[in-house]
Amino acid sequence: MKNVVVLTGAGISADSGLATFRGDGGLWEGYNVYEVATPEAWQRDPELVLRFYNWRRQQVRHAQPNSAHLALVELEKSFSVSVITQNVDDLHERAGSSTVLHLHGEIMKARSVRDASVIIDLGERDIHPGDTAPDGAALRPHIVWFGEEVPVIFAALDVAQQADILIVIGTSLQVYPAASLIAAASSAERVYVINPKMPPGLDSERIVQIQEKAADGVPELVGKLLANPFS
Ligand code: OAD
Repeated sequence: MKNVVVLTGAGISADSGLATFRGDGGLWEGYNVYEVATPEAWQRDPELVLRFYNWRRQQVRHAQPNSAHLALVELEKSFSVSVITQNVDDLHERAGSSTVLHLHGEIMKARSVRDASVIIDLGERDIHPGDTAPDGAALRPHIVWFGEEVPVIFAALDVAQQADILIVIGTSLQVYPAASLIAAASSAERVYVINPKMPPGLDSERIVQIQEKAADGVPELVGKLLANPFS
């Protein structure tokens, strides 16, 4: 089976009703990233940070996977598929994808401020000021904030280097190291980029641009790949 590596960003979940970060109506238009998504913000005003993530977690709970998430599960019928996502929602998992790496953490989980390996599932709960992790330290969202390392990047680079086909869906490619995964997938003979507003700088010959919403473009591409899995 060919290895398909899929890099997703906020755009794939836009069709499930979750806001993207940049552009009109994006989250970073309404919120200052330095006030809610940095270690300094957590030091300064943890209650504000918790409120921001509790609110977003509530939205994720109400959202459902869309036809793009579901099509990527279909693709597993004839390809070995690894999803690398910048998204912190759990829509790939709820759709049924078997391999999902979260570069920027998972909003449905919380972790100890002292030990990043002490992680709990939140289920239906929010995180409240004063909540503690199993190791007794304060509980924080299991999110990679700006200025923090991306520990999963090494595993993601390994996966990207094995790609025969790379599919990049709904990301502005403005955040590193995630954006470096396209270059890392140098063995991929084809790179499909699905986005209604193409990020600049995608002029390589191996890149096929599909200027559509994820909910339309991904099922169409998956249909084509499944029709000819050995091409
Ligand atoms: P952005 O908000 O930067 O970009 C979203 C991309 O999705 C844009 O290129 C849009 O054109 C595209 N888009 C919008 N609607 C779409 C649709 N229906 N179908 C397909 N694409 C669509 O989001 P990311 O690139 O994911 O990090 O942002 C990367 C990181 O920056 C996030 O993980 C987050 C953010 O700050 C952290 O919070 C650490």
